[in-house]
Amino acid sequence: MAALLWGAGGVVAQPAAGGQRFWAPGDGQPLPAELSFPNASGALGLLNTGGAVDTRGHPFFTPLGTNGRACVSCHQPADGMSLSVATIRERWAATQGRDPMFAMVDGANCPNLPPGERASHSLLLDHGLFRIPRAWPPVGHDGKPITPQFDIQVVRDPTGCNTDAKHGLASAQPTVSVFRRPRPAANLKFITAVGFSFEPKSGLPLLRDPETGQYVSESLMADSRLLTLKAQALDAMRGHLEAQGQLSPEALQRMIDFENQVFVAQGSDRFGSPTDAAGAAGGPKHLAAAKAGVLQNLQRNPMWKEFLPWAAAAASAPATAGGGEAQQRWRASVARGAKLFSQRMFLVKDTGGINTFGFGNPVINSCATCHTMVNSGIDLAPGRVDLGTVNLPWAEPAPHLPLFKLSCKPGHKPHPFLGREVYTHDPGYALTTGRCEDIGKITTQSMRGLASRAPYFANGSAPTLRALVDFYNRRYNIRLSAEEIEDLVNLLGAL
Ligand code: HEC
Ligand code: HEC
Repeated sequence: MAALLWGAGGVVAQPAAGGQRFWAPGDGQPLPAELSFPNASGALGLLNTGGAVDTRGHPFFTPLGTNGRACVSCHQPADGMSLSVATIRERWAATQGRDPMFAMVDGANCPNLPPGERASHSLLLDHGLFRIPRAWPPVGHDGKPITPQFDIQVVRDPTGCNTDAKHGLASAQPTVSVFRRPRPAANLKFITAVGFSFEPKSGLPLLRDPETGQYVSESLMADSRLLTLKAQALDAMRGHLEAQGQLSPEALQRMIDFENQVFVAQGSDRFGSPTDAAGAAGGPKHLAAAKAGVLQNLQRNPMWKEFLPWAAAAASAPATAGGGEAQQRWRASVARGAKLFSQRMFLVKDTGGINTFGFGNPVINSCATCHTMVNSGIDLAPGRVDLGTVNLPWAEPAPHLPLFKLSCKPGHKPHPFLGREVYTHDPGYALTTGRCEDIGKITTQSMRGLASRAPYFANGSAPTLRALVDFYNRRYNIRLSAEEIEDLVNLLGAL
């Protein structure tokens, strides 16, 4: 496959050793146990702890439904098992929009639009967003309808889907369409790790897997709507793959086993050295070996302590010529970023899911307040937080996204900081619970392999890691210096 445009900085990258960069559904290309894919920060490393995979007939790689898609259509090895907007554009150009990833069901702004036209797929091509149709009113995890605490009105409908007679809120099957990025189908032992038997933020017990009775993490999907990898896979088959038949229990297990074996993390830096050189412990091997569900603790387990050795190495190493010196500077910057992540204090304020319980409002803390699980960066709590990525007035301007007005009914707790009327692009967790206090809460996602899967946040509102850090800087008025911003961006690119 030819070189392609790649990464946030538009770096031209070469295919991985072996030539493979894109796995088309059913193309039968084997997946080696270890792979490396160049990206803007160096190269992503992928490790399959189960060894090389023969993808022929493998349920993750084979079209199982009616639209030609497989799971791999949207969870690509080179993109950290997510799907970058660079890859989406490359496929559009290479196939004139005929790749099954563009299937009208959710790869278009709305299924009612003319197929094959760029404008019909603009949210996917410009922002990497797939349509997520959610039933309204919500249906609970027990299958029973929930009486929502708020009414939804469509204020702005640039895709036409929320007001459409067949697909919209007033249709025979009332549906709210929100638009979201694919979350990585990798590093999943961290996503499914159960840290507490209760939800520390509400004090309520965690939900249980209906089949095994075990507690679940509640950290899958942006809105925690699915509790287990099995429920998730079946839902993806019916929805994304438009499958009508059943998958055999053996095939389903094989799909889930595969997901649980795959680890992705930045594997080497842009100087060509592995991210576990000079005492650091980056890369997928260390990630695969790490214990899941360990809470960060500023003394014993600070977040990203795996990169702290680079501070000492950089300080003690004699300045060598050329690339050597630039690499030492970069390593020192990553190590400073790792420190900043846990130690650079700012006021976390007016944030649903954080300032709504014991912590108080505001609370002085760092990035690690919400990103608490070592090695992965998700919130162990589970981390459904209204960070402001989707609710006005904090969200980035997004004229391309639908805008809803949610009006909380009398007798219910309003949104803790926005009151009874909330304007949002995506009600998030409230689409699962129907509760006003949950409007705009989004579950934290795995923070590894970031450099391979721009744009960021569930609604793709940060096109680059720099834009992501800028969002926090504004949202919490952190006043990061230029050097601090660079250090955080370098850290995120090394994860
Ligand atoms: C059309 C694109 C597409 C296809 C095909 C697809 N997914 Fe996804 N996947 C997504 C999107 C989008 C999300 C995030 C949805 C959300 O947060 O609401 C997601 C989320 C996930 C997650 C959750 C990860 C996390 O951290 O929460 C897993 C696991 C996953 N997909 C596995 C699969 C499997 C297995 C298949 C095949 C049966 C599949 N996906 C097919 C787009 C896709
Ligand atoms: C108040 C809680 C909170 C704080 C503080 C916080 N985050 Fe987050 N972070 C979240 C939530 C919630 C998400 C998911 C939001 C979304 O996708 O809309 C997230 C997502 C992320 C992601 C992943 C984006 C992706 O698309 O995979 C990165 C990277 C990140 N945060 C970095 C940081 C950095 C750097 C800081 C400190 C400057 C920070 N976070 C502080 C709650 C927080």
